[in-house]
Amino acid sequence: MPLSTQEIQTLIQAAMEIRQFAYVPYSNYPVGAALRTKAGRIFTGVNIENAAYPQTICAERTAIFKAVSEGERDFDAIAVVTENGGTPCGGCRQVLAEFGMDTLVLIADGNGRLLRQTSVAELLPEAFTPESLKKK
Ligand code: THU
Repeated sequence: MPLSTQEIQTLIQAAMEIRQFAYVPYSNYPVGAALRTKAGRIFTGVNIENAAYPQTICAERTAIFKAVSEGERDFDAIAVVTENGGTPCGGCRQVLAEFGMDTLVLIADGNGRLLRQTSVAELLPEAFTPESLKKK
């Protein structure tokens, strides 16, 4: 079922609100994410940086890992809020792909303005997925 305009707005709003908790002393680029399960639960996430830079985690993965670690694996959408409408990085696209190519990806700016509606399939064509590990 496609998300209603209201459901889309609620998800973007959740990503906007959580973004204040991003821990970004190095990049000063806060990201907020909100992931919606097919049952309508919302898991939020922020990017959390580290003095050992590669240990940083993106907002999208924080949200996905929070959800999966609480038993949720079926998602219908993720909203990502950044100042300038940035799209998920390659690593986050890959982690999203693990749980479904049809997940709707909502890209919004710092004012919560929806800039783009896309999907994991569109963002990561020819993805390596769990299917790829099956013997032929
Ligand atoms: N970042 C995210 O949280 N999500 C993305 O998809 C792109 C990048 C974070 C990582 C780092 O804390 C900051 O943005 C700058 O790269």
